[in-house]
Amino acid sequence: MKRVTFGPAGAADGSATPPRFGRLTVEGLRVRYGGVTAVEDLSLTVEPGTCVALLGANGAGKTSTLRGIGGLTPATGRVYLDDRRIDGMSASQRARAGLGHVLEGRHVFKSLTVAENLRVAAGRAGRRSDIDPLDLLPELRELMPRLAGGLSGGQQQMLAIARAVAGAPRVIMLDEPTNGLAPRLVTRVIRILEDLRSAGFAVLLVEQRLEVAQKLAADVVVLRHGRVAHRLHGTDPSLPDVLHAAYLS
Ligand SMILES: Nc1ncnc2c1ncn2[C@@H]1O[C@H](COP(=O)(O)OP(=O)(O)O)[C@@H](O)[C@H]1O
Ligand SMILES: [Mg+2]
Repeated sequence: MKRVTFGPAGAADGSATPPRFGRLTVEGLRVRYGGVTAVEDLSLTVEPGTCVALLGANGAGKTSTLRGIGGLTPATGRVYLDDRRIDGMSASQRARAGLGHVLEGRHVFKSLTVAENLRVAAGRAGRRSDIDPLDLLPELRELMPRLAGGLSGGQQQMLAIARAVAGAPRVIMLDEPTNGLAPRLVTRVIRILEDLRSAGFAVLLVEQRLEVAQKLAADVVVLRHGRVAHRLHGTDPSLPDVLHAAYLS
């Protein structure tokens, strides 16, 4: 299989091959469950090769935002991959258009092997990923024949990320990928996210851990009761205080 290529997006010969990585733009996203508004008027842009972190307390609307963007939960508002509007599409059409989504809680097919999990994800994409997930996550190589259900939580999280990459995404959204992991694995996930970003993916990251967002994110969007309460640069020294206030209020 091909090695990871951290080159510029698009075909070198200037042919009509679409660029490998895209920009995600969300405008006026709203998610409601019956009469309850979980997300209201959320807008953000994630450029290729950058990470935007979505932070906020439990119940702030982070998962609903990703699910609304991904088409897994009904939402209104506009979602674009580059200039292509995708909000009218089903979730699987959005995935094929290039929207990768690592769901909250490590979704893998537990009764399939690691290799089968990756094959299914690649098959759904209908085109080959420019990046071999096993180059990004070499620790999965020796686990290929194992059943996913028998893996540790950390290994399942690695597989969930690898599955998203196998789906040939142009943008990747991840919902609390470090949740419940031991510190060593948190460090490993941060490294993987750095690799995704430097490979050129636009990364939209939902996190609870401030330090993960600070290491990775150019921009931080803080949600409070479904609305954007703050937008800060990832290196803004006031970020811990802003978050503390948002989490307590
Ligand atoms: N399927 C659902 N049905 C009804 N309400 C929901 C559902 N999922 C989430 N909510 C509510 O929407 C709000 C936002 O939840 P969520 O997006 O999961 O927040 P977060 O990921 O930030 O913890 C919460 O008040 C939650 O109770
Ligand atoms: Mg959540």
